[in-house]
Amino acid sequence: MDKLLITGGKRLAGDITISGAKNAALPILCAGLLTADTLVLSNVPKLQDVATMEKLLSQMGLSIKDNAGTLELCGRDVSNLEAPYEMVKTMRASILVLGPLLARFGEAKVSLPGGCAIGSRPVDQHIKGLQAMGAEIRIEAGYIHARAKKLKGTRIVTDMITVTGTENLLMAATLAEGDTVLENAAREPEVTDLANLLVAMGAQIEGIGSDRLLVHGVSALHGASHSVIADRIETGTFLCAVAATGGDVVLRHARTDILDVALDKLREAGVILTTGEDWIRVQMAGRTKPVSFRTTEYPGFPTDMQAQFMAMNCIAEGNSRVTETIFENRFMHVQELNRLGAAIEIDGHTAIVQGVSGLIGAPVMATDLRASASLVIAGLAASGQTVIDRIYHLDRGYDQMEVKLSAVGADIQRIK
Ligand code: EPU
Repeated sequence: MDKLLITGGKRLAGDITISGAKNAALPILCAGLLTADTLVLSNVPKLQDVATMEKLLSQMGLSIKDNAGTLELCGRDVSNLEAPYEMVKTMRASILVLGPLLARFGEAKVSLPGGCAIGSRPVDQHIKGLQAMGAEIRIEAGYIHARAKKLKGTRIVTDMITVTGTENLLMAATLAEGDTVLENAAREPEVTDLANLLVAMGAQIEGIGSDRLLVHGVSALHGASHSVIADRIETGTFLCAVAATGGDVVLRHARTDILDVALDKLREAGVILTTGEDWIRVQMAGRTKPVSFRTTEYPGFPTDMQAQFMAMNCIAEGNSRVTETIFENRFMHVQELNRLGAAIEIDGHTAIVQGVSGLIGAPVMATDLRASASLVIAGLAASGQTVIDRIYHLDRGYDQMEVKLSAVGADIQRIK
């Protein structure tokens, strides 16, 4: 199993190019199931989760060709309408095939995802929405069996805001008969990116970017070309890394307009940010000020940035409070950060971080994707050596993170 060996304390300087967003690429790949035509996708990040999704979709009969980094998907020969447990248990986003399969083929068999390190993460809202559109759904032997001759448009109000739930229902609604209204829809930029692709495929969607999506169903979708939106979480992760280590880095191919709250918090922490249309320059010297926040749905503070900001807060000049409201168990990094000398206590859904003057390298273990990223940041800021075990979590969602960080002066290497 690969590990990362980091010798901390190096200032970061130079340029980093941001990749396409994992959480946009995954639903966008699934949209390939909605049409018999060809989708041409660029800026798809090279990640383990993307590879897993490609494998799942290929098994279903979707043809995927890689033309020098541009993917060509063709859904003409899709015939296997099943997402098996072996795939879904390794990647929950596999649930995103449910809506498209049901909408185009009238049938799908998708494994229930099961447990997850960061929370229970049920998919009841995906099911509730599809049932409201007329699907017959039964759960048997761990699988969701869904059937619908033709999905019918209706008004769906989800109990809570769900990102992949909105994406699944949105994709299903594009091919439903009549109009579907999705109330309480997630407004995450990745949902918007998917909606923009669907429109390019001939879908009729109003209210894109808002919490009310109105979809006029059409009888078929066609091929389209699309470039995946920049990864705001990767961007935010590198911003926190520079904030914690000090340095001067320009992030290229970034989107500054979808990171407002995180950028405000970094400025509050004393980080100097300069932004252009598709770049952010981050400069930091000395210790950051502590920043308190609570995670919420977009456009609020993203749960996917909570761990990275916490790593930065560990060595801030003062105390901060970090409240997690989206997932019930997303503080797994706390014990690992404490192993590096951080002083964090958990009180229910809030972590109270007492800033310390420095961290000291130690062996630590990654527990989930964003927890891994926080350990990388802490390791870069710590004195001495940090070895991070189980970095397959990191590889699921970051495109060559250690290569990008080495290029700006970090002492970080992958070891077997
Ligand atoms: N929820 C339900 N029932 C449902 C759906 C969601 O109770 O049917 C609950 C969840 O348990 C959670 C909350 O609603 O407490 C929000 O979950 P959501 O459905 O929005 O999360 P998701 O769609 O499973 C996506 C991202 C996550 C990100 C969350 C929140 C993808 C592939 N994943 O997950 O990304 O944390 O939205 O923004 O888009 C990551 O990249 O590290 C990651 C975990």
